[in-house]
Amino acid sequence: MQNKYSALFSPGKLGGLTVKNRVVMAPMLVSYGLASGEVSQRLIDYYEARARGGVGIIIVEAACIHPSGKETLTQLRIDQPRYISGLEHLAETIKAHGVGAFLQLLHAGRQTSSQVTGEQPVAPSPLACPVTREVPRELRTDEIKHLEKAYIEAARNAARAGFDGIELHAAHGYLINQFLSPHSNRRWDEYGGSTENRMRFLVNILAGIKKVEPGLLVSVRLNMDDFVPGGLQLEESVKIAMRLEAEGANLIHCSSGTYESGLNSIEPSSYREGWRAYLAGEVKKWVKIPVISGGILCSPAFANQLIASDQADYVFLGRSLLADPDWVNKVKQGEHQRIRPCLLCNRCIESNFKGLSVRCTVNFWTGREAQQMPVKTTSSKNRVAVIGSGPAGLQAALSLKKLGFEVTVYEKAAQPGGLLNLACRPPHKHRLARYRDYLLGELEHYRVPIILGCQFTAQTLQQEEPDYVVVATGSQPVVPTGDIKWDNAISMADILEDKVPITNKKVVIIGGGSNGCETADYLIKMDNRVAIIEKEDVLAGQMEKKNRRDMMNRLDKAGVVKMTGSTVVAVEEGRVIVERGYRQEALEADLVVMAVGYRPDKHLYCELNKLHPRVFLIGDAYQVSNVRNAVVQAETVAQDIYRMSWE
Ligand SMILES: Cc1cc2nc3c(=O)[nH]c(=O)nc-3n(C[C@H](O)[C@H](O)[C@H](O)COP(=O)(O)O)c2cc1C
Ligand code: SF4
Repeated sequence: MQNKYSALFSPGKLGGLTVKNRVVMAPMLVSYGLASGEVSQRLIDYYEARARGGVGIIIVEAACIHPSGKETLTQLRIDQPRYISGLEHLAETIKAHGVGAFLQLLHAGRQTSSQVTGEQPVAPSPLACPVTREVPRELRTDEIKHLEKAYIEAARNAARAGFDGIELHAAHGYLINQFLSPHSNRRWDEYGGSTENRMRFLVNILAGIKKVEPGLLVSVRLNMDDFVPGGLQLEESVKIAMRLEAEGANLIHCSSGTYESGLNSIEPSSYREGWRAYLAGEVKKWVKIPVISGGILCSPAFANQLIASDQADYVFLGRSLLADPDWVNKVKQGEHQRIRPCLLCNRCIESNFKGLSVRCTVNFWTGREAQQMPVKTTSSKNRVAVIGSGPAGLQAALSLKKLGFEVTVYEKAAQPGGLLNLACRPPHKHRLARYRDYLLGELEHYRVPIILGCQFTAQTLQQEEPDYVVVATGSQPVVPTGDIKWDNAISMADILEDKVPITNKKVVIIGGGSNGCETADYLIKMDNRVAIIEKEDVLAGQMEKKNRRDMMNRLDKAGVVKMTGSTVVAVEEGRVIVERGYRQEALEADLVVMAVGYRPDKHLYCELNKLHPRVFLIGDAYQVSNVRNAVVQAETVAQDIYRMSWE
């Protein structure tokens, strides 16, 4: 088949393995395994969905090679033969779809904690992990040798389980990277100092694996730049890659960043697509073995261009495949517009850091693959009215349609999308617009009518006689009451919709939740001087940490004044009086913006619920929250309605 992404779909060759295309599923620890470290059926189902989705290679998430290097409680283990049979089942499942199966091998070094391992973490040098703050114990030479053997034994176990290859995780600040990086390796023995000494641990492991399992493919995931002061940088990393090639590595998988560098290994939404492709591009000039590139790859055109322009041999996709396991097949079939886009909201990795299994904001079925209901027509009770076309309404309509219902969406505004239309306006939130367009595109694909400018009433209910009603009428901005005169204040929506374009003004934003902070982010782009007043002690406390930190960096850089633990006492002409503790202070303001939140709009639900036996309330209309909860509620209600339709 001639496809405009022909470079992406050209087959690759790795040793004796023919790879059907150039897309590699990046290793992602999802914690769907058993607490014992064994493979679960849930994990197999998750990987099978991605294998079925058409990728060329799957690198299964980091498996622990030694108990002292375990990173999370339900992480896979490969340190003993008893783990082989589960992994065998996993490798078989992946390979049955014509996909190359690799297993990543990890020792976390200082980037774990005694809470997980039950012992003091170990590392090349006793330097505290800047994130966990725990000081590791310096490894003795005999212990290093022991860990080299543990890696080699783990690789043998992976080969016995039937994997085509393994990947040595030498990136992201974990043990091998800790040895490689002068930032974390301060040893004076043969494992520290020169590049040759710092890479000894890695080279010994690689050479050892090649000796005992010459047929096993070995990929090395390498930090091309640690992005920390005194850490590995591109020039030295290229030398390391060249040495790995000489030692028999089959693939160099380029990555970057550590726990400490924070934002550049699993990036927040402000990073540009493929921003770090230059790293792999440089390595590619110096080695002959294939090189994998990636990092925020979302569009097939961009991924294809990386291969076509010889900047990489393979591309990795991580979060894009959590959001849509069928990414590759959709591209292949010319349906890339139908890819469910990742929002880069990082709620997935946030679950990981909390020790929970991974959930995806836009894909309810990630980690629930086996529970997905068959798409078949329901019984005769099958007409559904969905009122409201924000994320909850659109997702409910789509899920119900796929379950065989006849669905109509009613929207009172002239445009569909609800609050997504506003939420996509602040800087780096444009992916929400893509997500809205994806949902609308899917509804069009499935021929679900959306009636715009329609105020659904009791009369509409009588006329249309739906079997089920899903109310997703969203929320309304909170209007504060009390003694303060708010006449001089405008709403955050007025700003984001450019109803009041302002530049070079002093603006005071009242309310420092994520909405208030994002409005500040929007305003500083137009050279306004902004102050945020928030009664809680932290700004945007509910936001995901990486995206929050990224936004706060921008606000700090622009000199935004952050007044937390503060309340507004008066809004006067040209100033706002604020109370913090026992002190009052006046802030000059050309403009005052209200961002004090939203409240559920459930009037219609209360009315319809009295008239109809099957009315459901979801999304912000139920409880003001986020896209993730909207999607969960929409899917849950769709499933419930499906079950009820058979009763
Ligand atoms: C939930 C999650 C778990 C991850 N676990 C691993 C891992 O086990 N090993 C690894 O090398 N990288 C891991 N990563 C990093 C990804 O492999 C990838 O490098 C990163 O997400 C950037 O690529 P993307 O923009 O395509 O998502 C993880 C990322 C996420 C989101
Ligand atoms: S949770 Fe967010 S960042 Fe993670 S895959 Fe889903 S949409 Fe992307």
